[in-house]
Amino acid sequence: MTQGELLAAVRMQTLPRHVALIMDGNGRWAQRRGLPRVEGHRQGIQAAERLIHFVAGERLVPCLSLFAFSTENWNRPQEEVDYLLDLLARFIRERGDEFVERGIRLRVLGAVEALPPSLQRAITDIEARSRRGDALDLAVGINFGGRWSIVEGARRAAALAREGKLDPGALDEASFARLLPTAGFADPDLIVRTGEEKRISNFYLWEAAYSELYFTSILWPDFDEDALLEAIRDYQGRRRRFGKVEA
Ligand code: FPP
Repeated sequence: MTQGELLAAVRMQTLPRHVALIMDGNGRWAQRRGLPRVEGHRQGIQAAERLIHFVAGERLVPCLSLFAFSTENWNRPQEEVDYLLDLLARFIRERGDEFVERGIRLRVLGAVEALPPSLQRAITDIEARSRRGDALDLAVGINFGGRWSIVEGARRAAALAREGKLDPGALDEASFARLLPTAGFADPDLIVRTGEEKRISNFYLWEAAYSELYFTSILWPDFDEDALLEAIRDYQGRRRRFGKVEA
């Protein structure tokens, strides 16, 4: 099928409202070509940019999440950590205007206070400048972890209770979800992981309760528009029951 045919086919059925991407395999992509791992990250960021523009341009799904840097990624060699964080900062600074022009609203999820100050400034700036975007809601996880996010929600609940603004006995799933860093985003309908591995790796946990999971051996730098459309087609072939029996 051509890309046009694939697009037409996925538009015939209910599209996911939120697709989350676990971008794995940059290092292996580079190693297989005899290149340094960081070259894989450089290609990876280009692959991400292409996809973001495709999704926003086609108004394919209203919300996209990218897991760019996890709370565990600090354990990589210092040189790689520095390179990755610098790459992200430069990407946000250099591509920010284009995001704003294309109506992409960017929000970074994660413990940003631990990031280099220059990256924090770039994040604050792009979040403010892009906030009126209506083509795509883009959530980028930087120093994000699913467990961190749940603990963050618990911390906020505890603080509100201490101030007398929340009755702990009245806390329920819906009110707790509003305290999570991911509040305001619909739960992901589809989570895609590239790079062979079949796990969530501490990405969305609370939000993934009923997400459909899709795993592909494609390495992230090779994950293109057609691969995303294939993942959505696969998703559309599934029956989602949310714990209920079928009608
Ligand atoms: C995994 O590859 C990828 C990452 C650690 C994330 C890096 C992501 C990017 C550079 C793209 C981010 C883009 C945007 C626009 C936010 P890996 O190093 O774990 O690969 P490996 O498993 O083959 O070693």
